Amino acid sequence: MSKKLLSVLVCVMIILSLTPAASVYVDRAPDETLLYNFTFENEAEDGQFFAINDDTVGSASMAWVSGAGVGHGDDHALRVRNIDGNYTGRDNAVRLTLPEPLKAGAEYRILAWVFAPSAENPRKSTLTGPGVVLNGDYPGAQGEVKFPENFGNFPMDTWFEMNFVMPPRTFDIEFIDFRFVINDADKHPDVWFWDNIEIWQVSDVDPNIRIPEWDLTLPSLAEAYKDHFLIGNIMEVTPRWRSEHAEMFTLFYNTATVENSMKPAYISPSKGVFNFGGADAAVDWVEEQGITLHGHTLVWHSQSPEWFTYDENRHVLTRAEAKANLELFITEYAGRYAGRIASWDVVNEAFINSVSSDTFWKDALRIGYGPDMSAAWYSAYAKGMDRDAGEAQYDYIYDAFVFARLAAPDAVLFYNDFNEEEPGKRNAIADMADYFNNKWKDDPRNTEPDRMLIEGIGMQAHYWVNALNPVNVEDSIKRFVESGLRIRITELDIPMGSWANQRQVGLPVTDDELERQAALYEELFRIFVKYSDHIDAVTIWGLADTLSWRARGLPLLFDEYFEAKPSFWAVLNALNPEDPEPPPEPDVSDDPPPPNSPDNPDANPDTADPDDGNINEDTESRRLWPIILGVVAVVAAGVTIFIVYIKKHKKA
Ligand code: XIL
Repeated sequence: MSKKLLSVLVCVMIILSLTPAASVYVDRAPDETLLYNFTFENEAEDGQFFAINDDTVGSASMAWVSGAGVGHGDDHALRVRNIDGNYTGRDNAVRLTLPEPLKAGAEYRILAWVFAPSAENPRKSTLTGPGVVLNGDYPGAQGEVKFPENFGNFPMDTWFEMNFVMPPRTFDIEFIDFRFVINDADKHPDVWFWDNIEIWQVSDVDPNIRIPEWDLTLPSLAEAYKDHFLIGNIMEVTPRWRSEHAEMFTLFYNTATVENSMKPAYISPSKGVFNFGGADAAVDWVEEQGITLHGHTLVWHSQSPEWFTYDENRHVLTRAEAKANLELFITEYAGRYAGRIASWDVVNEAFINSVSSDTFWKDALRIGYGPDMSAAWYSAYAKGMDRDAGEAQYDYIYDAFVFARLAAPDAVLFYNDFNEEEPGKRNAIADMADYFNNKWKDDPRNTEPDRMLIEGIGMQAHYWVNALNPVNVEDSIKRFVESGLRIRITELDIPMGSWANQRQVGLPVTDDELERQAALYEELFRIFVKYSDHIDAVTIWGLADTLSWRARGLPLLFDEYFEAKPSFWAVLNALNPEDPEPPPEPDVSDDPPPPNSPDNPDANPDTADPDDGNINEDTESRRLWPIILGVVAVVAAGVTIFIVYIKKHKKA
């Protein structure tokens, strides 16, 4: 009887302790097909791997290594090393170019083992998240390209398995970058090993998968607006972009802005390093097409490298040091493209998110600084400034414009920001431009007395369907025009909902929502046409809803299948005489997003940064609980056995 009980208990114990472990991960289902298996025994066989290490994207080095036990279960692995102390994902990726692309429309499992030796990774806190990026599309121009969706920490000195299934994509996968998801130096290894990379096909290609496709028979927006202003959109000129979007781009648009790779962090990640690959490709391409490029951007608190304003110990540089860096960067960068880049966003977002009415412009600038780089230029310019000589922290704005003018005298220079439809912010920005333009009049470096230094205002125009009152936009245009400034609508998108009340993901879109959005696009474009003598261009920030940085709100002119939405037709309709029947009044609430809110267009860049690790704390705890349960079960079973044993003994 007691023997029976004992064996039952042992069984229960085994089952209990195994069940949670089994739920930690399922290696793979039995009917999957192995497509590739890389064991890194033979470089010639695995030759489709290379460390991203060219001047456009990265700085890792890698080598095939062999030695007793260096691999995962064998003696071979791929050893990777960070070269230059930059930790963005793409800097440290190892790219696998597939001999045959993985076809769109099927599920694939990607499985790989990673190892980080503590001896070669001193001073790290917790290492975070191996993952992949598809087709090198770090900006996410093809939709969801980064997996796994949830990732956590991984331990040092033990092989860690990355194993996930990707849902069917609507594009073929040509290459896969194996990288870490986090940018922080203390969470990213310096030396690591990959091994046993396997790719499995999990499902057949779904014959009904609908691949988005551009309809090249639609009317051209650029053509329709050719008498008023340029119409633009964003791009990243990569081979894939050329094959999927380039033709459509030249049909609809006649000016372009690069979405990410022309920002300071990508152009010059560290002092003395310039990565002009993305910018060169864009400049060459627009020239081939005979369209213009708007440079974005030279000075910004986000997506900027630390070397601009900090030393190696993260101490803010002095005014003189920061100014020298500013001059070096702008002279090299803007100078390189002098005569080829038509206009620049010289300074982006120097003002705080939301400015209450009647705030003096100098009191509305970003002045804090911290790890988010917010106002780092401002802080450095304060260190060692000579007040008596009239020096001020905000002189970095003036200097940036002057350096840009001297480096690229033909380019039209813009100040760019968001929430400019707010009366307080619009006035602050216009006053700032007046102030610096006035100062420039007496600057001995000014050789064109009739030309302003800040020639225009870029209005980002990241609006919300439920929070936009177009009248405010018109008033801001009027105010800027009063100061003699040109206008450029630089980043237009209008997601559904409002900052505080965002559209639920996955909810089918209604005709009413689409119509309300279209009505706003139409109203805005009617205003733009009215002021077209002062407007150089209207650029939309994204090709289609799924490719948008604010994809959740379906903010653009084309849907997930690249079909024209009512908003597209509304933009064209804005050229026709107004309907006697006005469009329905949008439900307007004027509240601007609170400062530093995660969805404020300002706060967002960091969250949405293509290389940024967006750690989901939840994931970690979810991973831990099966293990905890397992331990509890083992302990409980052990205690029970012990009690039974004692009882049995006592009886005996
Ligand atoms: C955004 C890009 O669209 C994203 O891909 C990136 O992750 C963050 O930056 N204001 C700007 C743009 O000036 O550069 C930002 O672009 C959007 C807000």
